[in-house]
Amino acid sequence: MYEERGRLTTGDENLKHLINEQVKNIEISGIRKFANMVADVEDMISFTIGQPDFHTPEHVKQAGIRAIEANFTAYTPNPGDIKLRKAASQYMQSKYGLTYNPETEVIVTVGASEAIDVALRTILEPGTEVILPGPVYTAYEPLIRLCHATPVFVDTRDTGFKLTPEKIEKAMTAQTRCIILPYPSNPTGVTLSKEELKAIADLLMDKDIYVLADEIYSELTYEEPHTSIASFIPDQTIVLNGLSKSHSMTGWRIGLLFAPEWLAQNIVKVHAFNVSCASSISQQAAVEALTVGINDAETMKKEYMKRRELVCRRLDEMGLEYVRPSGAFYFFVKLPATTILNSFDFAVDLAKKGKVAVVPGSAFSEYGEGYFRMSYVCSMETLKKGLNRIEYYIKNNERNLQK
Ligand SMILES: Cc1ncc(COP(=O)(O)O)c(C=O)c1O
Repeated sequence: MYEERGRLTTGDENLKHLINEQVKNIEISGIRKFANMVADVEDMISFTIGQPDFHTPEHVKQAGIRAIEANFTAYTPNPGDIKLRKAASQYMQSKYGLTYNPETEVIVTVGASEAIDVALRTILEPGTEVILPGPVYTAYEPLIRLCHATPVFVDTRDTGFKLTPEKIEKAMTAQTRCIILPYPSNPTGVTLSKEELKAIADLLMDKDIYVLADEIYSELTYEEPHTSIASFIPDQTIVLNGLSKSHSMTGWRIGLLFAPEWLAQNIVKVHAFNVSCASSISQQAAVEALTVGINDAETMKKEYMKRRELVCRRLDEMGLEYVRPSGAFYFFVKLPATTILNSFDFAVDLAKKGKVAVVPGSAFSEYGEGYFRMSYVCSMETLKKGLNRIEYYIKNNERNLQK
């Protein structure tokens, strides 16, 4: 069709040099590359998924339907419908003891993803640095780079994937503008205790450094209830949350951002000119989720805990090493000690021969090399079957696995 119009054939890259350098340099995610390579494997069990296998709770769905029927289909105020901001503020108070003014300190975003973007764009300038743990969720790095800032990954493999005050202090420079604290963690499932957060807060308290606390998995903690670092240093913390994981609402795209007024009022400018507002219909469903459904995550959590025990037991039986996860729904597993493959090749080989898909650890920064991530957002039956396949693969592929 392009050729018919006499312009732009497939090989024509005349204006390629005018693409923003930062965008050009963003690599396709390792997860996507891996998915492309194993797309044609039949009868594969996938442990790659990062979204709950439950449906959105029925009463929340009904609230969305009612919103459409009542013609709640217009723009809302930029920071979100005040009813939802009030519900979000009450949720933070009752669950985590945090106080945010719904009028000025709460922003409803298009998923936590947009919250990460607008927060970073508000606080970062070219040349500034952002400290973040490695391995880590994939979205932060490209968004930091789009701000012409530099991600400073801290190797957390020797502290059970936890950022510590000592590690942060070592990585800090005069350019450090922000520290990302994404706990409970994707991809490791690890979370920080109240004491560990307090120690980090003590270090940062007198420093001109922001904390971006990505707490999207806060409702899925298995040992202790979640603590936010904002309970120690609220004036320098931006808290991100949302309904994607707690209410299995990934497609509804509702994120929540909480920050002190002077900061939130700047972030809301970036948000307003970016998206205007989050979906009005989803916002009505979100009000239901955060009020009537405030404890909806409990049912899912019980199920995740059972699955977590099964995975722990089976990985132990296989002699595979991992840090026992205390939140989210992932295991970050060390490759079998005997393997000669890197994490990408291992995942491809396991998919092709073992018919189980896991995410190569290298997708989560260089510090994820040597590991794979498996999620447990599937039925017990699928989980058992997939784990059996992993065991069979490890036992029967000595050729690839021997040093
Ligand atoms: C740590 C973390 N933050 C943010 C997100 C994005 O969440 P949302 O779907 O609400 O944009 C994810 C999604 O997997 C995540 O794992």
